[in-house]
Amino acid sequence: MEIDELITLLETEHEKIRSALVELHRLLEAGKLAEATDIIKAMDETLIQHMLDEEATLLRAVIEAFGREGARESIEVFQEHVEIDSLIKEMKRSITAVDVDPIAISHELSLLLNSHFLKEHASVFPCVREAERRLAM
Ligand SMILES: [Fe+2]
Ligand SMILES: [Fe+2]
Repeated sequence: MEIDELITLLETEHEKIRSALVELHRLLEAGKLAEATDIIKAMDETLIQHMLDEEATLLRAVIEAFGREGARESIEVFQEHVEIDSLIKEMKRSITAVDVDPIAISHELSLLLNSHFLKEHASVFPCVREAERRLAM
């Protein structure tokens, strides 16, 4: 897959995950825990491959074009993947746990993912596109 195609796919997945988060919140408020669990599982599966593609393919292009120092901002944004991953695990656990409120966790997850996606759109993806132009020269 070309990098341009991959970025388009990643952007589409951001939109899907954003909708899934809204749906998740609605299901949790309605107490529909089984359906909420399905959404969390699907979101987790999408995100694992999604974050892998970003770290492997996109970051590699940025480092190749600009070096580690030039890739610093992208590296920092992708470091949030660890936090996203652990919050998804906490989201899964919260469905059956008695010590955490799933609605609160889903709210936290929405805030984290929305701000993460914004950073990718505003700084990482343009940087990858610029890296591609340089590497093609
Ligand atoms: Fe990401
Ligand atoms: Fe992303």
